[in-house]
Amino acid sequence: MFGVIKRNPTVSIIDLCRLLLPQQKRLEEKNCSYTGYSRFALYNILKLLKFESGSKILLPAYNCDVVITPFRELGIVPLYYGVTDKFQIDFDTISFQADIKAIITVNYFGLSQEFDAIQAFVEQHSLIWLNDNSHGFASCHGDRRLESYGDFSITSFRKVLPCINGSKACINNDNYKSLQCALSESNDVDRIERKIFRFIVTTVFAYCKFRPIKLPDYSQLLVEADEKLMDYNFDRLSSKLLRMVSEETVQEKRYQIYQAINLFLVDKNYDFLKVIPSILKQGNSPMLYPLEVSDQRYWRCILQISRDVGFDIHTWPTMPQEVIEKNIHGCVSRWQKLIFLPLHQDLQEENYCTSLTKVFDRVKIECE
Ligand SMILES: Cc1ncc(COP(=O)(O)O)c(C=O)c1O
Repeated sequence: MFGVIKRNPTVSIIDLCRLLLPQQKRLEEKNCSYTGYSRFALYNILKLLKFESGSKILLPAYNCDVVITPFRELGIVPLYYGVTDKFQIDFDTISFQADIKAIITVNYFGLSQEFDAIQAFVEQHSLIWLNDNSHGFASCHGDRRLESYGDFSITSFRKVLPCINGSKACINNDNYKSLQCALSESNDVDRIERKIFRFIVTTVFAYCKFRPIKLPDYSQLLVEADEKLMDYNFDRLSSKLLRMVSEETVQEKRYQIYQAINLFLVDKNYDFLKVIPSILKQGNSPMLYPLEVSDQRYWRCILQISRDVGFDIHTWPTMPQEVIEKNIHGCVSRWQKLIFLPLHQDLQEENYCTSLTKVFDRVKIECE
């Protein structure tokens, strides 16, 4: 099967050869440290902050299930809040309790949050602000990097770059700078993720535009929780790749392609799709393009047709089990009407929109 449009970019064969050459020194940056996965960085931060079993932390219900893995490990109680249609915190859904210690906010898909409102909220309630910037590698709000918000931030660049693993944990508040050494040490574990062979094969397949297995059926809401903490060290190849990448180029290309898709959809005005207006802000580096579908029949049809042609239109996320079972803050209903168009820095706008037209035109014919 030949894949048409993937979710992630691919390293070129030349870059792959450069990556396989011996490694230079490790990446180091003031106030930041690196590890394999964001969930593990979050676990280390929560541990260093000495959150005991039973501590309460606010986090969005509309979230990836793996984010609660550190909660499970440490016995921390998640208190779920809602998110608006524009992927901002719905403060009305937070019923505040005095013993809440911290809030996790998510820069959904690398898009800006209402940072001033969050800052005011954390100050009002004396909370620690953990900025989950896992989707926001290279993303800025105007000129300011998204990772610089919050007392702490975590950025999982494997979601944006073609690498094996990689997450950056930053301490942004001087009051917590004394934890930097301990955080770097906790993130720098011995466990190595042995995926180089798989990485090379995937790169060669992607280069040949060959997809050996069909995309998953994204219309199925998965309920089994991913319980792995993924306590791996930052992969050597991925660290090298990170140095080779220009964040400015990644941001500019992603911003451009998002706008091209937006213009295309506004122009086409498909009656079964609803564009979510004004969520992309200057400086953002979007991870994907979110889109609302008017009814379930069309939603299923889009997912099925795109799967057939190898265009990685998908649903998001795999939510925590409790959120699914209780449909907390309407997350399941939201999940069932959203689709996400893949987006990355190597895509060509024109080809992309041509492929999108083919998918949506087929949906129109098959669904009407
Ligand atoms: C918002 C968010 N935060 C954190 C994570 C976890 O990142 P990682 O896979 O690097 O642990 C994910 C998903 O995978 C996510 O969607």
